[in-house]
Amino acid sequence: MPADSASHPLLRLAAVDKSFGAHQVLHGIDLEVRAGEVVVLLGASGSGKSTLIRCVNRLETIDSGEILLDGVPVPSEGRELARMRAQVGMVFQSFNLFGHKTVLENITLAPVRVRGVPVRRAQERAHELLARVGLADKASAYPAQLSGGQQQRVAIARALAMDPRVLLFDEPTSALDPEMTNEVLDVMSELAAEGMTMLVVTHEMGFASRVADRVVFLDAGRIVESAPPQDFFAGPRTDRARDFLSKILTH
Ligand SMILES: Nc1ncnc2c1ncn2[C@@H]1O[C@H](COP(=O)(O)OP(=O)(O)OP(=O)(O)O)[C@@H](O)[C@H]1O
Ligand SMILES: [Mg+2]
Repeated sequence: MPADSASHPLLRLAAVDKSFGAHQVLHGIDLEVRAGEVVVLLGASGSGKSTLIRCVNRLETIDSGEILLDGVPVPSEGRELARMRAQVGMVFQSFNLFGHKTVLENITLAPVRVRGVPVRRAQERAHELLARVGLADKASAYPAQLSGGQQQRVAIARALAMDPRVLLFDEPTSALDPEMTNEVLDVMSELAAEGMTMLVVTHEMGFASRVADRVVFLDAGRIVESAPPQDFFAGPRTDRARDFLSKILTH
């Protein structure tokens, strides 16, 4: 870690533009996430939340601007990109576990293949992580034998197995019923309390107000508000955010 890492954000997007064909989806995105900070990204459907998250680890290319991890520009390809991606964990709505592999294999695969961690050590760590997400007894299960909430907690354990510096979440609970949603949000809250740096797209406003250090509101590909949750929820400054909140809170 660079000696001056306290002086710059762990993750920084600067003037990021992104288009799909003629459709510009992100406009001059400036966003900083400091070490240990939890930032919740809100916005209407189609506002660019997933695209923004996917740009961070280069699942999408960007047209212009810069993305820096711990002050170092994230390369757009090659071995350097692979190394950087290993530091950025990602959890999706759809879990994306390997269905033909056990829970333990799902969690140990990347550390063993990408990091060269010895299998035995990767397995020990996987068992620790499973205990941490409340699934100590599920190591030999297959994903299809688990509930959605359990699968998502495995996906979180899998991301943690790479010792990421930042975790990105894209609507991790929107495919889950309320009880399973709470199981997953509890795990995320614990990670936040332990100091994990997180950028989270979610429609869970309770989580956002309790756990986020900052809420960032995206409207049509532009960040139009960035505020501590208590300020944002008590008094959004833009009509778009007010409109968004009135819709989401009356659901
Ligand atoms: N691969 C793609 N090709 C073309 N257009 C895309 C692609 N991915 C996203 N878009 C468009 O970019 C815009 C932003 O999409 P994005 O998925 O980032 O929105 P979102 O805020 O995550 O929405 P939601 O809340 O519905 O998940 C949308 O207009 C979408 O149609
Ligand atoms: Mg999305």
